[in-house]
Amino acid sequence: MTTIAPSRPLTAAGYPRGFKWGVSTSSYQIEGGHDADGRLPSIWDTRCRMQGKIANGDTGDVACDHYHRYPEDIALMKGLGLDVYRFSVAWPRVLPKGKGRVNQKGLDFYDRLIDGVLEAGIEPWLCLYHWDLPQALDDLGGWPARDSAGWFADYAALCCQRYGDRVKHWATFNEFAVFTLFGYCIDWSAPGITDREAHLKAIHHVNLAHGMGVDVIRDLVPGAVVGAVHNRQVVWPEKDTDADRRAAALLDAHWNKAFPDPQLLGHYPDLIAESIAPYVKAGDMAQICRRTDWFGLNHYGPIFAKDDPNATWGFHWGAAPDDADKSDIGWPIWPAAFRDELIGLTKTYKLPIYVTENGMGGNDKVDDKGEVNDATRIRYLTLYTDAMKEAIAAGADVRGYYVWSLLDNFEWGTGYQNRFGLVHVDYETQKRTAKASYAWYRDYIKAARAAE
Ligand code: NOJ
Repeated sequence: MTTIAPSRPLTAAGYPRGFKWGVSTSSYQIEGGHDADGRLPSIWDTRCRMQGKIANGDTGDVACDHYHRYPEDIALMKGLGLDVYRFSVAWPRVLPKGKGRVNQKGLDFYDRLIDGVLEAGIEPWLCLYHWDLPQALDDLGGWPARDSAGWFADYAALCCQRYGDRVKHWATFNEFAVFTLFGYCIDWSAPGITDREAHLKAIHHVNLAHGMGVDVIRDLVPGAVVGAVHNRQVVWPEKDTDADRRAAALLDAHWNKAFPDPQLLGHYPDLIAESIAPYVKAGDMAQICRRTDWFGLNHYGPIFAKDDPNATWGFHWGAAPDDADKSDIGWPIWPAAFRDELIGLTKTYKLPIYVTENGMGGNDKVDDKGEVNDATRIRYLTLYTDAMKEAIAAGADVRGYYVWSLLDNFEWGTGYQNRFGLVHVDYETQKRTAKASYAWYRDYIKAARAAE
């Protein structure tokens, strides 16, 4: 571990004063109400209707029915004593066809949600895009079409005009690299294309959309605090061979650098620059590289890469070592990689960091006493908050930590079987049951505040 000089005094709990505690969710994963009040399909509604794409044939049609049960969910947030709630707006709810006709009823839902969150004394952090592109825009070419950047800017303007009086913290996108890589290179996400050219165009146009979105937010929301949410985790070769090392370097360029580097440093990483150049027009890089106020980090654990000559870019997901510590759903638990990531980010991008997602997937069940004893999640959160404190002590500029997620929810391709919530959801009855980790997080926040 390398250190950078600590810049701020820390409380006895090991955090800077005013550190923010929160939880994150996303629209498609919790809202349900897929055809309520004029919402039209997103690319994920389409994918859920394709044979064999989602475990158990699950869909987000109902999910946690948060669209109708949000008051109960806000009460659960309040019970945790949160500072922040990060959520996303469903583009096809407010602009059913992605552009053109506005859906007032869809806009009204987020008015009610934001007002309820504020009344609970919680700061709403609004993310504009958490993967639910309106299907109508995909039909027009989706992210590989250059027009998509303008569609996004217009959608951003609508949200800013409507919510900017109450929402000050804005994120343009969630996990740029995941939805472009899985959606246009590996068929793990909507729209499920595997094509180099489509992938490169999507990367560049999403970057452009981000830069244009930043400008729109700054123009329309006085005092806006603007950022973006990036997935970042170290990529290691599955085997110690030249081929796997090459695969890991290329996956690292796509996973960790293809978005933050152009957005914050003004250039694409070397391993991508040449292939993306044909799609970059004069002025694009300046439009992409806009000043932002914070770096959102989503981090779970390290990932592994292996050489695969048949894959779109010649790399594929590799397996973690058999003897690695792993979560209930098999993801590696590696707190030191989180600590090092936080320190590295501070050095590379020099922005305040908010950990906008961290958490653990499990197979939690309600026991005979009606309780959910998710001791493995408490262990994970303890290890990762300890690692975060080590990073802060070494000088990492971390200002907040938001657990993924408030509720068990629709975990994309793996459907409802992977549970990430602090609150268990019975999808038959929609009953919410606070897990042991809910009480743990509530008490952790309380103790951290008491030390201020
Ligand atoms: C990243 C994504 O932003 C979120 O949608 C997902 O559910 C979690 N990580 C867990 O995989």
